[in-house]
Amino acid sequence: MLNEKMQQAFNDQINKELYSEYLYLAMKALFEEMNLPGFVNWFDVQVQEERAHGLGMYDYVHERGGHVELFAIDKPEVKGKTPVEIFEQVLEHEQFVTSRINALMDVAEEVKDRAALSFLDWYLKEQVEEESNVGGVLANLKLIGDDKKGLFMLDKELASRVFNPPVIG
Ligand code: FEO
Repeated sequence: MLNEKMQQAFNDQINKELYSEYLYLAMKALFEEMNLPGFVNWFDVQVQEERAHGLGMYDYVHERGGHVELFAIDKPEVKGKTPVEIFEQVLEHEQFVTSRINALMDVAEEVKDRAALSFLDWYLKEQVEEESNVGGVLANLKLIGDDKKGLFMLDKELASRVFNPPVIG
């Protein structure tokens, strides 16, 4: 059985993951408008990953005999317009998510829920990968600068990203 505080923390995080899905969907739409299909594909994979992250916790709360409560998802605010600005926000957002996973682990430690800690370990590792992946694209974009050919080549590269349904936990 899940501790009440732990359950609340999981329900909050389900909301954050689904918000991430929504935010990346909004960003994907901007890249559609920029006619960059590789970036659109990259965000499409990102959207699916965030949904999987949210549903992974949704399933886990049930597995532990808890109660899932879904909250309203905020309107996503994309702050920038250029690929660099958008990816800066993605990195910032992923760093925020990492801090949330750490906070969730703090709760698990506080209530001595070792099973939840072990489950959350997968999310922590995933965040390391996410930040590294996003940071890599951002570094490439900064290197490219205003070079249209470079952007074209990076777009081609991002077109090859595929969604592999994660095995969570
Ligand atoms: Fe679910 Fe991108 O963190």
